[in-house]
Order: sequence, then C-alpha cells, then structure tokens
Amino acid sequence: MKKTAIFYSFRSVKSQQQAKKIIKAIGVPVDEVDLDTITRDTFMGYDNYVLAVPTWFDGELPNYWDEFLPAIEGESFKGKRFAIYGGGDQKGYPENFVDGIGVMAEFLEDRHGKIVGMTSCEGYSFERSRAQRGNQFLGLALDIENQAALTKERIEHWGQQLQKEFK
Ligand SMILES: Cc1cc2nc3c(=O)[nH]c(=O)nc-3n(C[C@H](O)[C@H](O)[C@H](O)COP(=O)(O)O)c2cc1C
Repeated sequence: MKKTAIFYSFRSVKSQQQAKKIIKAIGVPVDEVDLDTITRDTFMGYDNYVLAVPTWFDGELPNYWDEFLPAIEGESFKGKRFAIYGGGDQKGYPENFVDGIGVMAEFLEDRHGKIVGMTSCEGYSFERSRAQRGNQFLGLALDIENQAALTKERIEHWGQQLQKEFK
C-alpha cells in the first residue's frame, strides 16, 4: 500500500489547523511529520506527500525548510508525488504571493518529483507569484489574512482532488 504523509511545523498554529482539515478532506490514513525534527530517512520513506510551505521574508521559505533542504538536495524523488499548500497574503505581498509554493515545487521538480494538487488562480488578486504556472498555482494557496472564509471550501475541494491524483 502506498504511504502518505503530511509535513508541517508543529509549532505553526496556522499550518497545523490547515493540516488537520486537509487530513480529513483526503480521507485516507496519513502520517503527520514535524518539520522541526525531520530527518532525511523519515522524509524519504513515503510515496505521497502533502507539504506545508507558507511564504516568509518577502518570497522566501520558512527557516525550518531552509534548514532541512540541504539534507535532501542530493536525492532523487522519482516516483513520488507532492502536493504543496501554504499560507500567503495577497494584499500585503502582491508581488510575492505564495512564492514559497513555487520555490518548493521547483526544488522537487529539479529532482524528478511530480507535483500534484495544482489549483486555479481564479478568485485571487495579486501581481506576481513564483507559484503561478499558466493560470494555475503549483499547489493550494491559503490566504487567511484576506480570504479566511474561503479556506474551508478550498481545502475540501483540494482533498477530493488529491484522492484522485495520489497513487
Ligand atoms: C514578515 C512576514 C513576511 C511575509 N512575506 C510574505 C510573502 O512574501 N508572500 C506572501 O504571500 N505572504 C507573506 N507573508 C504572509 C504569511 O505567509 C502568512 O501570514 C501565512 O499564513 C503564515 O503562515 P504560518 O504562520 O503557518 O507560517 C508574510 C508574513 C510575515 C509576517
């Protein structure tokens, strides 16, 4: 049976609340892994990944991702599927909206990982995003600063999408 896990910082209240809702929406057994204590061997032990990647520092990854990525930069993710979600603020950071999702997607694709869970950019208003490819985001953008009321529906829809796109 394929193994699925969701990776987020257990210290991030927002990522954690979103993770719990995503687990429910996917509806299959999902391990929860803490990015603050993650190791290379734990990370490599799965087939399907849900990764929490909020955007910090004007378009950058959070510290915990920056600290961990060197441990897996030499790996191949061939055969693995990755769904990325992350918080962003389209009014506060319109030129870097959810860039972290794009930075992570590029890192994984460079190492032959497959990105799933892409979503439409419709319904968001921003100027530029590294997470945008065509009219889609390379994951699920969650903006609780400006669109909190849409989060529940976005997550439920995404969970159903992942049920089909994970193998
Ligand atoms: C200092 C700071 C910088 C931020 N930079 C960005 C950014 O460049 N792009 C963006 O979309 N959101 C940005 N945000 C908004 C956060 O991504 C958003 O609040 C997110 O929900 C944080 O999630 P977390 O608490 O789980 O880390 C920034 C927030 C702060 C406080």
